[in-house]
Amino acid sequence: MKRLDALLSNLGYCSRSETKLFLKQNEVLIKNQRVFNPTSKANHCDVLVNNEALDSEKILILLNKPSGYICSHNDAGKLIYSLLPRRYQNRNPKISTIGRLDIDTTGAILLTDDGELNHKLTSPKKDVKKVYEVSLEKPLNGDEKELFASGKVLLNGEEKPLKPAILKEITPTLVHLEIVEGKYHQVKRMFAYTKNRVIKLHRLEFSGFRVDEMEEGAFKIIDDFNIKSYNL
Ligand code: URA
Repeated sequence: MKRLDALLSNLGYCSRSETKLFLKQNEVLIKNQRVFNPTSKANHCDVLVNNEALDSEKILILLNKPSGYICSHNDAGKLIYSLLPRRYQNRNPKISTIGRLDIDTTGAILLTDDGELNHKLTSPKKDVKKVYEVSLEKPLNGDEKELFASGKVLLNGEEKPLKPAILKEITPTLVHLEIVEGKYHQVKRMFAYTKNRVIKLHRLEFSGFRVDEMEEGAFKIIDDFNIKSYNL
């Protein structure tokens, strides 16, 4: 059991010091009894706020990132977290992105407050699949598919070559690229290596999660996630 002020403030409903006021202004029930005392103790599953169950203790969110948003907690400019409801922004532990997308990259990004999950999905050992749609400045040379699949591409400043990647040509200037690493500016650097330039980058998929049907800037909660059921 946890104190109600701790429970509510960790989930971002209010700050600890605001709990008393929050309990006055909202109907908070513990086992169907209205409570007004911030120090009351409760299990997460026994609390209702205005007839709704509490947000889950661990959260996983899929967001379709628009261009112009930064994957950082403290940077000048528009932060990706500002696309989430204030309550989620106030959670403790904080919600963080699982890896990062560049400011001008759009598409699938996961966010979580689950450190273990975040670590798993960003670990270089896990080979997490990412699929990008890449618009190129110039048509393909023709040898990129073989080159990227070879596992022999050594980018500037790297000690090891990239793991094999799968390139699918849609048109000569539009490709889908599947990679399992997440090196800094990796896709842009891969095409710079082939003397080309990425002019638009959209992530279609991250670890099986896709944003095809989602509006830009929209997010959804991945319910009942657990590492096993999503094979994460
Ligand atoms: N590769 C890049 O170059 N940028 C991204 O945002 C993601 C992958």
